[in-house]
Amino acid sequence: MSSVPPPPSPSLATPPSSPPPTNLPLRQIPGSYGFPLLGPISDRLDYFWFQKPEGFFRKRMEKYKSSVFRTNVPPSFPFFMNVNPNVIAVLDCNSFSHLFDMELVEKKDVLVGDFVPSVAYTGNIRVGVYQDVSEPQHSKVKKFSMDILKRSSSIWVPELVSNLDIFWDNIEATLSKSKSAGYLFPLQQFLLNFLCKTMAGADTSRDTNIANSGYIMLDKWLALQLIPTISIGILQPLEEIFLHSFTYPFFLVSGDYNNLYNFIKQHGKEVIKRGETEFGLSEDEAIHNLLFVLGFNAYGGFSVFLPSLIDAIASDSTGLQEKLRKEARETGGSTLSFDSIKDMELIQSVVYETLRLNPPVPLQFARARKDFRLSSHDSAFDVKKGELLCGFQKLVMRDPVVFDEPERFKPDRFTKEKGVQLLNYLYWSNGPQTGTPSVSNKQCAGKDYVTLTAALIVAYLFRRYDSIKGDGSSITALQKAK
Ligand code: HEM
Repeated sequence: MSSVPPPPSPSLATPPSSPPPTNLPLRQIPGSYGFPLLGPISDRLDYFWFQKPEGFFRKRMEKYKSSVFRTNVPPSFPFFMNVNPNVIAVLDCNSFSHLFDMELVEKKDVLVGDFVPSVAYTGNIRVGVYQDVSEPQHSKVKKFSMDILKRSSSIWVPELVSNLDIFWDNIEATLSKSKSAGYLFPLQQFLLNFLCKTMAGADTSRDTNIANSGYIMLDKWLALQLIPTISIGILQPLEEIFLHSFTYPFFLVSGDYNNLYNFIKQHGKEVIKRGETEFGLSEDEAIHNLLFVLGFNAYGGFSVFLPSLIDAIASDSTGLQEKLRKEARETGGSTLSFDSIKDMELIQSVVYETLRLNPPVPLQFARARKDFRLSSHDSAFDVKKGELLCGFQKLVMRDPVVFDEPERFKPDRFTKEKGVQLLNYLYWSNGPQTGTPSVSNKQCAGKDYVTLTAALIVAYLFRRYDSIKGDGSSITALQKAK
């Protein structure tokens, strides 16, 4: 790639405007939904079993020689009769960016496609992430979510650092006894303690059950909602028969959810009160939304993202750690703060590059609000009102028109002026990294907190250690800072 093309829309920031009129050749959207029942079931088996999600989208993109095409995505037949699996896949940066244009698309009940997990999982309330910007409740909940973060900012970094102290002390203790320390559950425990304290003002040490098992409760609650839509990788056809053919009822985790709900209700009083008085939510709406943003968005998102970040760094053998160590120690002042990160260009870039190659929420959906013309890099397509667009970010973020050597992890990709330009195309948060979450868009409310927190975790790591070895689930060696 010789130069970065201008962003697809001049103002993808808030609120995004429609993409500019295009002179691209008009093409009929290739692909088909197949015969009723047979098409969706065959696509479902390809998606979960024979091709896996990435292969599924890649193969069709090659077959149709187009990054925009029609296909089905699960869940489908036999017990999802009310779910319409038909989608228009959008797999390049240009076509994907239409998902952010709230004039063209709506985001009502499409978080995971046409399938909506039972509202029983969220106290019989449609929480904010399922609401479109046109729904008044969306604005209340989004403002509430942004307020939660703003209010927590004074304790965010000190809490992060003290919880990281505990986390790494534990990993060191395990490593002193065995060759490898699995870190996924300790990481989730750290996340739960940290997020409850910062976002809800709730100290998990005040409830032994939550302190010991809160993360398992959240894992079960998350899994049961999402199982019909995700590939787990257990032996087939067992996965298809038992995990992807029906929904799991809420009562299986109602005890866990009620424990979490009661914990937040009892220990998060101040935040809940603000939800009621400042944002016009009922007590119940405030608690369920707080629990969802904390447990699903923040805890769920970080649980997926941080292992891929640790993996990218701990498994590197190109000398990256030396550069990160130097930057973490020579910039940012003696005590870590949000400001410390400003000068840590490489650390930030590594965080962005990890989000590019492994976007934690790989699928994004939106429904056409009206008939409109959608453009990819090389063609234009007519989309009808009501059709569901589906973007698979793992491929979108490897768009060769935008990203040089797209399959390669390039730690410094987002540094220097050209690299910073590329942030216009980093879409992990359901909007460009240069955008601003607001009530008039559906961009992640925690967008900046996520990247800053991840960068602080890397900076902390290299102030404490000279080097680290490991992968996406365990640490095998730690060399303490000399
Ligand atoms: C690594 C962590 C995170 C990831 C990967 C992530 C990712 C996302 C994505 C992809 C969406 C858009 C979903 C869609 O509509 O298609 C989203 C929405 C949202 N996220 Fe995050 N998120 C993370 C952390 C957080 C945190 C810490 C918060 C705390 C406030 C948060 C709050 C929200 C909210 C409130 C929305 C809904 C926005 C709206 O309805 O307008 N997220 N997030």
